[in-house]
Amino acid sequence: MLTLQAKKFDTVSQLDTIALFCTQEQLAQNSFIPQQLSDVCAIINTKTFKAKPNTYFFAALNDRPSILLIGLGSNKDITPETLRNAASVIVGACLDKSVSAVHIVIPELFSCNDAARYIAEGVYLSNYAFNRYKTQKEETSPLLEKAILVCNNPGQLSHILKEVEIVCSNTLMCRDLVNETTENANPVTIAKLAKKIAAQSKIQCTVYTKKDIEKMKMGLLLAVSRGSMYPPHLVVMRYMGASKKDAIAFVGKGITFDTGGINLKPSGHIETMRTDMAGAAACIYTLQAIAQMKLPVNVYAVIPLAENMISHTAYKPGDVYTAYNGKTVEIGNTDAEGRLILADALAFTEKKLKPKAIVDIATLTGACIVSFGEIVAAYLTNDESLSTTLFNASQITGEKIWRMPLYMEYNEEIKSDIADMVNVPAVRNAGTIIGATFLKNFIEHTPWAHIDIAGTSWYSKKRGYNPKNATGFGVRLLYEFAKSMAL
Ligand code: BES
Ligand code: MG
Ligand code: ZN
Repeated sequence: MLTLQAKKFDTVSQLDTIALFCTQEQLAQNSFIPQQLSDVCAIINTKTFKAKPNTYFFAALNDRPSILLIGLGSNKDITPETLRNAASVIVGACLDKSVSAVHIVIPELFSCNDAARYIAEGVYLSNYAFNRYKTQKEETSPLLEKAILVCNNPGQLSHILKEVEIVCSNTLMCRDLVNETTENANPVTIAKLAKKIAAQSKIQCTVYTKKDIEKMKMGLLLAVSRGSMYPPHLVVMRYMGASKKDAIAFVGKGITFDTGGINLKPSGHIETMRTDMAGAAACIYTLQAIAQMKLPVNVYAVIPLAENMISHTAYKPGDVYTAYNGKTVEIGNTDAEGRLILADALAFTEKKLKPKAIVDIATLTGACIVSFGEIVAAYLTNDESLSTTLFNASQITGEKIWRMPLYMEYNEEIKSDIADMVNVPAVRNAGTIIGATFLKNFIEHTPWAHIDIAGTSWYSKKRGYNPKNATGFGVRLLYEFAKSMAL
């Protein structure tokens, strides 16, 4: 586990590695060197360093601190993301040079507190590897152990660093769960994990088993899980941090493997489908982060868990099932299973928990990747104020979301000949909007937003402070959203 600390300049030992940020303008004027390091920097030759983003220059010196220069690019392009990504370059350089502790001088950008927060986030989030199944230790380089932020007023930073540690460590745990294999992350084990996490924090947790789910008549969750050896589960976590009654609810898609079912996915599309519970994982670890920070807010996490298997007991195209809210659904395609389990969970959440707002998060559609790639998550909502709050939270954390419309005309597309609606229409246009339109039918009046993280939850390559594979997308976003609802 990485330790984050803050110190004053005069307490920095002379034998440490010191990272300095540098913009192109500062490089031109030679103004990036703090006076405390002027004699050290005078003896290094930085001619080859251009301060471009994502570049670094390392000078190891005898009996002096090693200097690590980190390029920030041009002043005018610097955003919070620039600092988070530049911080990930520090981590990369330290791992490269086998440095286990690094001092980082906070640059004079933004406010000192904000700059320190962005840098701490970038360091924490990029210091990650999923090595659980590697037996050859040489192949797994050790991670950074300590990052010490150097600034004039370290006392101010302790609360910020604590929050960064809690929220980012939960993001890393979320990545671990999404990266896990189905052997260790299935409806049974994830329900157990939620219970364990709840017991460690001030969270209540109810796990509904298959029998309960049958009694509650969640016909869609039951249908999706029919082909699997794992029974479905519905987890309800509840954190009560505020004295008033109002609560918000997160609902996360927990498909622990999506074969597509009878509408089987082909090779090339099926390999990563153990990650189809990234929404569920984000909800669980967001709740843990909220509880650990003791946010003054009441929050539910509702997590339907199932495996979408192909088998002789699996549900079939043309079947009709009745949802928790009594509506009937024709199965047009067994691969559109996410909206089915979410439909039951959303209707249950609204009816039984009565929150003032519901946000669901799901790896719902491949169409979302076609629209936004891996860079942006789609969101759709029936409420303007919820839209603004969510978007603002995403601007704060750097987890990009963009709104798509939910015009009622789309409802025509999911009409069925034999039931109230169909989960997938015959014509496959506007996939992400159609998915959300289906979900909308299971909300009666509550402000609700749906976030499609099919692209952003899993990276095909490393990007800045996010690694290849599971990104943990959503934990920081939902945490920030809950924090803003607490105000
Ligand atoms: N889990 C998938 C969506 C997905 C695709 C997530 C790629 C991550 C990466 C979802 O259950 C699915 O299969 N959706 C179908 C819907 C279609 C049948 C309307 C899809 O996107 O193809
Ligand atoms: Mg599917
Ligand atoms: Zn799926």
